Amino acid sequence: MPPRTVSVVNMKGGVGKSTTVASLAETLAVEGVRVLVIDLDPQSNVSMMLAGPERWVELRQKGKTIDDYFNQFVQTDSHPKFLRDCLAYEVGDVSGEMRLDLLISTPEFRYIERHALEKWVKQAFDVRQIGNRFAKLTQAAIDSVQDSYDLVLFDCPPGISIFAEAAIELSEFIVIPTIPDYISRLGIFSFRKRALRSMEQRRFTEDRIWTLITKYEASNTLHQSEAALLKDQFNVFETRIPQTEQIARAAEWFDAKRTLDQKYGEATNVIRRFAGEFREKVGLI
Ligand SMILES: Nc1ncnc2c1ncn2[C@@H]1O[C@H](COP(=O)(O)OP(=O)(O)OP(=O)(O)O)[C@@H](O)[C@H]1O
Ligand SMILES: [Mg+2]
Repeated sequence: MPPRTVSVVNMKGGVGKSTTVASLAETLAVEGVRVLVIDLDPQSNVSMMLAGPERWVELRQKGKTIDDYFNQFVQTDSHPKFLRDCLAYEVGDVSGEMRLDLLISTPEFRYIERHALEKWVKQAFDVRQIGNRFAKLTQAAIDSVQDSYDLVLFDCPPGISIFAEAAIELSEFIVIPTIPDYISRLGIFSFRKRALRSMEQRRFTEDRIWTLITKYEASNTLHQSEAALLKDQFNVFETRIPQTEQIARAAEWFDAKRTLDQKYGEATNVIRRFAGEFREKVGLI
């Protein structure tokens, strides 16, 4: 069975997309799910979280990056490298036997998008077609490693990006992390419409688009009321990810392996609960 494909995406920045990808990937991997994380964000946050800065530099020097993967295709229109030659294997700083691999991003990744636009727009492709090209290529890349993974998770950049569009186009499920406040809820309306269109084109229903409440402060009455409104208006995970120091600290790489409980402290149970809900929704039981 091919892997489930899931984009973690929101136009809004700083809502916990990369944190969600990293914690979900680690939790599921510990549970025995074979996970591939693809970093589509030139900020490279999830790459740093899961590979650590030293290995990230090493991978970059060896050309094992998403930019290297797409570069040849954009420059010469020729077939890209094999995805399996560009991956970082056995990433994460959580202990245990697991399959957790990663395609890292680098700041240069933003130029790939620019080159692709400059070149292909001249050849009369529109932005949507360019997105579709990347979606097809990415799908083919996943197909080439499909026996190795149960789940492919895309960490998308904030704002508008061709690669985020491509990820939405090819993903079977979409997770939208959001902070429960007024501005963030407004943002979800328009963004969700975009995601819904992509789902409908593939005859998928809207129960494949899920909102995840992040940075939740239980004592904050605005968070309480906004979380209730989100629940009325969208498909929302029951689990809310709390704002905690330990989750923020988990972003920092540790050279010594630690258990999930050591890494996430009191938040571990919530993170596990979210992973359980996620598995149910995407059919990874
Ligand atoms: N539940 C949480 N509790 C405390 N801090 C958090 C939590 N979730 C995320 N953070 C912190 O908030 C910041 C933004 O998180 P993150 O990078 O995951 O967001 P993002 O949506 O991926 O951002 P961007 O849009 O820039 O990619 C980071 O410093 C992260 O450590
Ligand atoms: Mg991010």
